[in-house]
Order: sequence, then C-alpha cells, then structure tokens
Amino acid sequence: MKLFIDSADLGEIRRAVDAGLIDGVTTNPTLLARSAGAEGDPREILREITRLVPGDISAEVVATSTEEMLREGRELAKIADNIVVKVPLTPDGLAACRKLRAEEIKVNVTLCFSPTQALLAAKSAATYISPFVGRLDDISSNGMLLVEQIIQIYQNYAFATQVLVASVRHPDHIVQAALLGADVATVPPKVLFQLFDHPLTDKGLESFLADWNKLPKDRRGI
Ligand code: E4P
Repeated sequence: MKLFIDSADLGEIRRAVDAGLIDGVTTNPTLLARSAGAEGDPREILREITRLVPGDISAEVVATSTEEMLREGRELAKIADNIVVKVPLTPDGLAACRKLRAEEIKVNVTLCFSPTQALLAAKSAATYISPFVGRLDDISSNGMLLVEQIIQIYQNYAFATQVLVASVRHPDHIVQAALLGADVATVPPKVLFQLFDHPLTDKGLESFLADWNKLPKDRRGI
C-alpha cells in the first residue's frame, strides 16, 4: 500500500521525505490556504511540493461548474507532470473527470461518502477515488465499511481506479486500509509519525542499551 502525506505544509512534507516515508501528497483548499497564509502563493507551494516529491501530488479545483473545473484543472496540470487534478464528487465534477482523463490528465475524485458515488467515479475513469473515512466515523457511520465495499465493487468489474483512503484520523485506519488491500492511504503528518510508535519498542531499546552500558567502557565498541 502506498502512503501519501495529507498536507500542504512544506516543512512537514520535507520531514516526511527525509524519513523516506512517502510516495505522494494530497492537498485540499483548506490545507493550501492554511499553508499560504496571508502572503504565500498557493501555486508556488504546489510547484515546490512537486519538486520535493516525485510521486503523485493532488491539487484540487475550487470551481463548481464543469467548464471552470476544466479550465482550473488544465492550469493545475501545467505546474508539473506529477500533478493529479482533484475534483469533487458532483455531476459537474465527474463530467470534468471524464474530459480531463480523455486528455490524459490524472484525476482524484474527492469527497466520496458512498459506494454508489465510488461506482460513478470509476465509470468516469477516475485515477483515484478518495473515500473520507474519518468524516464518516465522525457522524457515527463506518468509514472502513465503505472502503471494503468500494474495493469489492472495483474487483467485481476490474475497474482500474485506485482506492485512496482519505480523512485518516489514527493508525488503526491505516491497519484496516492495508488489511482490506486499499491502494493508497493519505495520512496527516501527526498520524504518519505515530506509525513508528510502540511503547514496548522504546522500553526494549532502553533496557538493551542499559545492559550494554554495564560492560566496561573499553569493550562496548562493535
Ligand atoms: C484528502 O485528500 C483530504 O485532503 C483529507 O484527507 C481530508 O481529511 P479531513 O477530514 O481530516 O479534513
């Protein structure tokens, strides 16, 4: 399973790249606006991200009509070869998806909350479908059940659309996504670094080193 970072913060993305952890990046208008602040240029931030990470970088349109989404999507795609245009799961968004795919531009269909939406995205030739598991869990629904249903439906008909688990809240979402065979999980920086953590690893390392340090100094080198 590929791991993407769900962030537009250049510092966080650099840290994840240095840790050798990520295969791609997803951004959204909220994340980009936060990263740009009052003075930054979102387009420049996207350009910098595409330089830092060779994998797929999702950049979302902010238009709501097919026509405008196409214009924005084509502009975003010009930033770099690894840009994936993100469109919302609306009738206009799926129409834009079909046209962009016909132009060989990769598309991530976002804000997916039901299996029928995912079926329509696959029939529109989406490169990725993004089910938002955390936001479903937040309303006492079951995000991972949706992922399971989408994977089953896509397998039944051999759709090429990749399942990109989004709105991840904790490491167990990653475990469940991997057990279900999702193609990608996009992970917020905090959760990405939590994937390393286990108290028994820290405790074990501490006691190994303490025991080793009981040896006389001149025999500790390896
Ligand atoms: C995915 O592409 C979205 O950017 C993201 O996962 C949304 O997550 P949130 O529900 O934590 O905002």
